[in-house]
Parts: sequence; structure tokens; C-alpha cells
Amino acid sequence: MEGKYFKKLVGQKCYLSPISLDDVEYYTEWLNDFSVTLNLGLTGTNITLEKEKELLNKLSNQYVFAIIDKDTNKLIGSTGLHHVDFINGCAEFGINIGDKNFWNRNYGTEASTLMLDYAFNILNLNHIHLSVLSFNKRALKCYEKAGFKTIGKFTGIRQIGGERFDMVLMELLSKNFKGEFIKKALNEVKQEKAGMDLKLV
Ligand SMILES: CC(C)(COP(=O)(O)OP(=O)(O)OC[C@H]1O[C@@H](n2cnc3c(N)ncnc32)[C@H](O)[C@@H]1OP(=O)(O)O)[C@@H](O)C(=O)NCCC(=O)NCCS
Repeated sequence: MEGKYFKKLVGQKCYLSPISLDDVEYYTEWLNDFSVTLNLGLTGTNITLEKEKELLNKLSNQYVFAIIDKDTNKLIGSTGLHHVDFINGCAEFGINIGDKNFWNRNYGTEASTLMLDYAFNILNLNHIHLSVLSFNKRALKCYEKAGFKTIGKFTGIRQIGGERFDMVLMELLSKNFKGEFIKKALNEVKQEKAGMDLKLV
């Protein structure tokens, strides 16, 4: 059974919806797809349907959302914030577009921007960070387009196929974030209200 989706945050190409537990088979399939997990650095983890069900259950109560293609209302991946710390205003960012038909079509950049807009302009966080394997050029470019800056790396921290790879560290501060979805929606609501006030006068 496919999940039912809700338009929590809407962009031009995709929208973010609460995670649906009915989609567990899609998520499990992606987390067993070698080319997806290699980029995520998760190939060494064994994800069964049962494990993924438990994980989704937990994630559905956190700041993690399904990414839905706006034209077809099809699930294409997920994005979220992990280790959210409201005392210090920081969190770790993650994204996985599991449906490879949607790679390189700007969905990742837009979904990241929506998630970051929510993080900075709704949750009022100040600092978002992430780590990405150095060979994941698509993710590096996508994160740069969303506004992240590289701040360093862990040298040779991962070994795959007899080769060592760096883990690139990136960060984005709220003052440097350029997202416009929430400000635009807020302005629309404010203008609606102004129109109503005008009618009342
Ligand atoms: C990483 C991911 C979120 C990016 O989303 P996406 O929708 O594919 O990315 P976008 O189209 O928004 O941006 C990708 C950019 O990288 C570029 N790119 C792709 N492959 C590249 C390569 N090998 N070298 C350099 N640039 C590359 C694209 O051309 C595009 O740039 P452009 O818009 O200037 O042309 C998505 O591909 C994904 O989830 N992959 C699998 C899991 C994963 O890697 N998650 C991140 C783990 S840290």
C-alpha cells in the first residue's frame, strides 16, 4: 500500500510531507540499493523490512519528511534533521532521494532548501551541519547550491574497496541562508489579512 501525502512545505517541483509508515517497502528497497547506499555510506548496514519499520516509526515523530514529486504525487525520497539541539540551536542535516530517476533534476537542492527553511525559519535553529563522502560529487554540488560551505574534512576515515576516502564537513548558518518559501508564504498570509482589514473598514 502506498502512503498518503500532505503538503507541509511546498516548493516548485516537490513538497515535504510527514513520513508514512505505509511506504516502508520503498525506503527498505532504497536502503538496499548499492548505488544509493554507497553514496550514503550505509552499505555496511543491513536494513531489513522489520528494522526499517521500527526506524520509520521513530523518525515519523522527529523532523524527518517524505519528499514527494509535485506533478505525480509520487514518493521520491526523504530529508530531515537529526540530533536537533534547541539549547544551542543546531542540528545535523540528511537527505536521500532513493528514486534514481529523480537524480540531477534539482529535486535534491529544492528539498534541501525547503528543509533548511523549516529549520531556520520555523524551528529557529541557527546552525546546520552535515558530512558527505568525498566521492559523492552530486551531493557536494547539491549542498553548495543550497548554501552549505565546506569547513574541513576527516582524512581517509572510510575504507571501501581497498581505498580510503575523506568525509567532507559542511555547515550553514541561518544568517547566510537564502530560502524564500516561508517568507513568501508568510507575506501572502499577511497580505490576505491586510485585505480583510481593509474590507472591514
Ligand atoms: C545527493 C542528492 C540529495 C542530490 O540530489 P539531486 O536532486 O540529485 O541533486 P541536484 O540535481 O539538486 O544537484 C546536483 C548537482 O550535481 C551535479 N553533478 C552530478 N553528478 C556530478 C559529478 N559526478 N560531478 C560533479 N557534479 C555533478 C549536477 O549536474 C547538479 O548540478 P547543476 O544543477 O549545477 O547541473 C541525491 O542525488 C541523493 O539523494 N543521492 C543518493 C543518496 C545521497 O547521496 N545522499 C546524500 C548523502 S550525504
